[in-house]
Amino acid sequence: MIGKERIRELISRMTVREKAAEMSQLWGENPDGTLMGLEQGIHRDPFLDANAGSLLGYYGAERTIRAQKMHLEKNRHKIPLLFMTDVIHGFKTAFPSVLGLAATWNPKLAEQTAAVAAAEAASSGVCVTFSPMADLVRDARWGRVTESAGEDPYLNALFAAAFVRGYQGDDVSAPGKIASCVKHFAGYGAAEGGRDYDSVQIGEASLWNDYLPPFLAAMEAGCKLLMPAFHTMDGVPCTASRELLTGLLRDRLGFTGTVISDCTAVWELICHGVCADEKEAALAAVGAGVDIEMVSSSFYDNLESLLAEGKMTMEQLDNAVERILTLKDELGLFENPYKDADPEAEQKLLLCPAHRQLAREAAANSAVLLKNEGGVLPLRPSDKIALIGPLSHSRKLIDTWGLVNSDEKDCVTVKQALLGCGQLSGVLHAPGCCLKNDCEPDAVYPDDAPLMEEALALAEECDKIVLVLGEHPDMSGESGSRSHIDLPDNQMELLSRLSQAGKPIVTVVLAGRPLALTRASQLSDALLYAWYPGTEGGNGIADVLTGKTGPSGRLPMSFPRSSGQCPIYYNHLPTGRPNRSGAYERFKNGYVDQPPGPLYPFGYGLTYTRFSYSPVRLSARQIPFPSQGAQAGGDALLTAEVTLKNEGSRPGTETVQLYLQDVAAQRSRPVRLLKGFSRETLAPGESRTVRFSVTADMLTYYLPGSGHVLEPGAFRAFIGPDSETRSFAEFFLLQEGGDENGM
Ligand code: BGC
Repeated sequence: MIGKERIRELISRMTVREKAAEMSQLWGENPDGTLMGLEQGIHRDPFLDANAGSLLGYYGAERTIRAQKMHLEKNRHKIPLLFMTDVIHGFKTAFPSVLGLAATWNPKLAEQTAAVAAAEAASSGVCVTFSPMADLVRDARWGRVTESAGEDPYLNALFAAAFVRGYQGDDVSAPGKIASCVKHFAGYGAAEGGRDYDSVQIGEASLWNDYLPPFLAAMEAGCKLLMPAFHTMDGVPCTASRELLTGLLRDRLGFTGTVISDCTAVWELICHGVCADEKEAALAAVGAGVDIEMVSSSFYDNLESLLAEGKMTMEQLDNAVERILTLKDELGLFENPYKDADPEAEQKLLLCPAHRQLAREAAANSAVLLKNEGGVLPLRPSDKIALIGPLSHSRKLIDTWGLVNSDEKDCVTVKQALLGCGQLSGVLHAPGCCLKNDCEPDAVYPDDAPLMEEALALAEECDKIVLVLGEHPDMSGESGSRSHIDLPDNQMELLSRLSQAGKPIVTVVLAGRPLALTRASQLSDALLYAWYPGTEGGNGIADVLTGKTGPSGRLPMSFPRSSGQCPIYYNHLPTGRPNRSGAYERFKNGYVDQPPGPLYPFGYGLTYTRFSYSPVRLSARQIPFPSQGAQAGGDALLTAEVTLKNEGSRPGTETVQLYLQDVAAQRSRPVRLLKGFSRETLAPGESRTVRFSVTADMLTYYLPGSGHVLEPGAFRAFIGPDSETRSFAEFFLLQEGGDENGM
């Protein structure tokens, strides 16, 4: 590292124009593949060839080495260029979508996938990834739920930290490591109606209790960058919010890393109606605390004049540039501007067998078994299978962000995997219908009728039907919001017709989001939810279908009964009129045309065996109020435990979940909150005590005006297989020096 002194000395020699260029990120390449900035210039401006600070979406060992060389030859301070891109769930080897990885409930596994992604990306010249997306999500209509770790702050926080650790390790300059940019600060997942880029209204309590924890976890894990979100919060675009980016982020949360705008978000301040032109936009964004402008050029075109007019200070620019150069220095780029870019290593690493193996494991572990009536799964060696469905033979196993770096052509399809697994007596295949893409309304599709006839005839010849359905990947991800989150009509028709064939149907669903599966579930004997499973998706799914890997995935989001139920999430606040009966009740919370609650709850997932839970046991019921020291030290206040038993005849992995409820607080608290879980693998007949420590930290919450508070009173500890478990035990946190009655 060259250190602070030299960085400051460098900055003192930079012109304002050079600083403005350093604060600008250009698209990496033009549509024809030529380099922007360096070869042509987004502004057709040779000055940027020499001085732009970073490129977006530009990778490849040879290309980045060449670009870096060209840049350094022209840059009079020899400041290296930074290559940033979206490595979201893998680089060339695509792992399951982030929501799928979250469904593993295995942050360690996610960390391993991030480490592999970093190693591949680094060999290809990438230094920064725009990941993790730490946005809490509650509305499955929003396309970007596929990039998130779901609806729970605790689970999200664990995954956000795991991704950061995987990318960066302990030392981001080490070989194979890249810097992580957490995004989108803050509350992007709460976009109104699940429409992308839409406004957000979140109160202070919800911001702190629901939306900030994953960001705090990413920061604690050391993420080097942060990206503000596109939307407005209470009328202020995050990109222009000094309250958010300086007051909260820097002053209160102590973030010292680099803040990079989202793509063209500075320019979009004009569209939001808070800035008249790009000059005002640049002033607002730098004033709020943005260091780098992505893609648009408001900074580059206006910072010089803003400074000359005294609207901005040199100190503001210097602080921003210092943060950017510090990032470059932490990556070791001043000493080695090429870092790990190496065509030979790239060749060896990308899609290597070990990476594919991890991708297969992750895909198998992400699949969630939602239904398995009559034990139709796992498939038996004697089974003759009719493999049907528009995604059964498709390589569309990667979501849209994955496709930024990965190729569909590298994917193993379900058909290839089932045909090649050698564990079935026969696999016959028919597509059944075509895969429609709502993003292409003018597309013309082949007639489904003959495809369906062929599939029905095939089903007659077989013992079981494996039907692979789902969403076209374009229909989720950024700008992939949907008002109806059902399976496409032609696929439902196929399922409905096949259900009349009298053969057991195993429906495998591939999608970026929870879909509304009420009818599909009724028509299927088994239902396996496999998200976008990635490069090794086919193999991972086949492993679960054949029982080579037992299903162990759990839902990281509630599955609605219908689109109209969105947003739906387990950790909602209680209402004055709760519906407890499970059926429609007049003057109770809910809809007149739908039972309350989700189709499948958060945390839900079946295995190929059956587990029983004992009642919850607590180590104590009256808990003295902990001292400040005990609170800060994370001391256990009590333990909560159950005895778990595998009652079936197969081994299985059960995810035992601890939820806590604050029964009466100063402010209404969620009906329950996940506070711990443990993945337990048990042999048939085996039983085990699963114990959780309950700490003060788990009972505190953010109370506006007071900060984080721990309040005495009654709490409930629920332990069970999902967020709807009814089994709980109650304990009482005494007042300081008091008894249960607060005396
Ligand atoms: C997305 C970001 C992404 C960026 C760069 C934007 O449209 O919102 O999440 O990192 O593009 O590709």
